[in-house]
Amino acid sequence: MIHFSDHKDLDPQHLLALFEQTDWARGRTLEDIQRMLLETDVMISAWDGPRLVGFGRVLTDYIYRASIWDVIVAVSYQDQDIGKGLVQRILKHPSLAQVELFWLCTRRYQGFYASLGFSDKEQTGMVWDRRKQLLLPSDSLDPIREKQS
Ligand SMILES: CC(C)(COP(=O)(O)OP(=O)(O)OC[C@H]1O[C@@H](n2cnc3c(N)ncnc32)[C@H](O)[C@@H]1OP(=O)(O)O)[C@@H](O)C(=O)NCCC(=O)NCCS
Repeated sequence: MIHFSDHKDLDPQHLLALFEQTDWARGRTLEDIQRMLLETDVMISAWDGPRLVGFGRVLTDYIYRASIWDVIVAVSYQDQDIGKGLVQRILKHPSLAQVELFWLCTRRYQGFYASLGFSDKEQTGMVWDRRKQLLLPSDSLDPIREKQS
């Protein structure tokens, strides 16, 4: 029996194992995942007993926009409606009830997201990928320093 949770106290080690199965998330480090979890607004996880079998997360202002990231289901648990359950729980999450527009960036699985009501007709997206930049045009700008807490 699969159960879903929106608790944020997720062990990054569990997530690391899940991310290792995909090309786009393989190689993420424990330290980075830990920080990512801390800074994520809403997350939904799917569990088979103690085993993490699915995950999805949201960054949002809770009013205008929310973006959905890292939706993933363990290979041996795919095609059992777990991915659908994750995304539906995100879209219906009480803290996101006022969000006007959910944004999702995916190169694959358009069929999966279309079946959940997502459309690729209304918006186009552009991506700035740090790994693909040779030289930043703003190299001459003064750096913005992080506030010390
Ligand atoms: C994409 C993914 C999250 C789907 O999760 P899942 O649990 O296997 O999907 P579900 O069983 O909930 O499927 C829900 C519906 O989407 C359909 N679907 C699932 N994967 C699909 C795909 N790749 N293309 C088209 N339709 C798909 C299913 O047939 C099902 O339709 P139905 O409700 O009419 O029967 C999962 O396959 C996955 O983790 N893939 C690898 C990770 C990844 O790259 N994620 C994309 C990040 S943006």
